[in-house]
Amino acid sequence: MSITLPGPTLGVVGGGQLGRMLAEAASPLGVDVVVLDPTPACPASGVARDQIVADFDDSDGIFELAARVDALTFEIELADPEVLAAAGEEHDVPVHPDPGTLETIQDKLVQTEALADAGIPVPEFAAVATARGLERVVEEFDGVMLKARRGGYDGRGNVPVHEPSGAADALAAVGGDAMAERFVDFEREIAVMGLKGADGATRTYPVTETIHREEILRESVAPARASDEVIARAEAVATDVLEFLDGRGVYGIELFETREGDVLVNEIAPRPHNSGHWTIEGTRTSQFENHVRAVLGWPLGPTELVAPAVTANVLGDTDESRPATLRGVEAVLGAPEADLHWYGKDDARPLRKMGHLTLTDGTLDSDGATRDALLSRARELRDGLTFREA
Ligand SMILES: Nc1ncnc2c1ncn2[C@@H]1O[C@H](COP(=O)(O)OP(=O)(O)O)[C@@H](O)[C@H]1O
Ligand SMILES: [Mg+2]
Repeated sequence: MSITLPGPTLGVVGGGQLGRMLAEAASPLGVDVVVLDPTPACPASGVARDQIVADFDDSDGIFELAARVDALTFEIELADPEVLAAAGEEHDVPVHPDPGTLETIQDKLVQTEALADAGIPVPEFAAVATARGLERVVEEFDGVMLKARRGGYDGRGNVPVHEPSGAADALAAVGGDAMAERFVDFEREIAVMGLKGADGATRTYPVTETIHREEILRESVAPARASDEVIARAEAVATDVLEFLDGRGVYGIELFETREGDVLVNEIAPRPHNSGHWTIEGTRTSQFENHVRAVLGWPLGPTELVAPAVTANVLGDTDESRPATLRGVEAVLGAPEADLHWYGKDDARPLRKMGHLTLTDGTLDSDGATRDALLSRARELRDGLTFREA
C-alpha cells in the first residue's frame, strides 16, 4: 500500500471526548474527521472537520456519514452494528472494529459468554431473569455484581448484591434483563490497551492500573504497580483477547487482579478507553493515533513507555450540576510535569467526565515510589480544580 497525504477522511460515530481526542490525533497525520452525534456542538465538533447531528443508530445519518468518508469507526458502544455494516457496504467503506465484534460486546452477557467459550478467564457469571433466580446465584457466588446487559457505563447499570434479600430491588433497579457476576474481591483493577492492525498484527500498551471509586475511573497509573508475574499474565490474557476479536482498532481490556494473582477479564471496549488517556504523553504514539492508524490499515506506531504517567479524571461535582466553568486551572498550568485536557462539555453534571490531567516523569524510573509520587501530585492538582463559584 502506498500512503499519500493529505490522508483519507475518517467517519466516527460518536463525538464525545473520545471523538475529540481522535480528531486531535488525526490532524497531524493529515486525516480529516467527520463525527456523528445527536448533541449539537458535541465535544468533538470543535476539532473535527464536521459534525452530522443524528442519533447513534440513525440510519439516514450513518449512511450520509458513510457517503462522505473513506473509513468508518465508532467511539461509543451505542452505535448500531447492523446499520454500520449496511452503510459501509453500500458506500464501499471499511468499518473497524468489525460490527459483529461491536454486537457481541454491546451485550455484557453475550460478551462474557463469548470470552468464556474462547477459553479466556472471566469471573463466574450467570444470566438472571427473575428475583428467585438471582437469590440463588447470590447465595451460590456469595455476593454478585448485577449488571444490566446493555447500555451501562461509568457504573450506571451495575448494582452490587450481597444478600439474597436484596435481589428483587436490585433486579428492578437494572431493569430486568441482566447478568450476575461473582463479586470479585480484587487486589487491584488493571487494564490493557490493545491494538489490532492490518493482517491481524497485535500490540499492547504497558499494563495500566485503574483506580475506581463508586465504579467510576478516577485515576490511572502506568505502568501498573503490580508484580512482574501479574504483568506478564495480563499481557498474555490481553493478547488472547485480541486474537479472539475481529476488526482493526484499539481495544480497552479491563481486568481484575485477584487476591491469588490471577487475571480475569471484566469487560472489553471496542474503542479508545479512559484508562489509556495517559498514552498521549506517556508513549510516542497515543491510543488515539494508533486507533486512526489501525482503522485505516496503516503501520502502527510504537506502544512502549516513554515516561511513567498518571492520569486523574476531572469529574463534575457529586452534589449537583453546575455550569462547566473550571476554576483553579493556574496551578495545573504552572506544574511543568502536568498536561491538561478539557473536553468542551457545556454542563458539569454530577460525576460526568469533564476533562483530565496527566502527569509524567521524564526519568523512566521504574520504581514504585516514582509512581506513588506522581499519583499523589496528580490527585492534589486535580482536587484543586472546582466547578463551584468562589
Ligand atoms: N464482578 C465484579 N466484582 C467486583 N467489582 C466489580 C465487578 N464488576 C464490576 N465491578 C466494579 O464496577 C466497575 C464498573 O463495572 P463495569 O462492569 O466495568 O461497568 P462499566 O460499563 O460501568 O464500566 C468496575 O470497574 C469495578 O470497579
Ligand atoms: Mg468498565
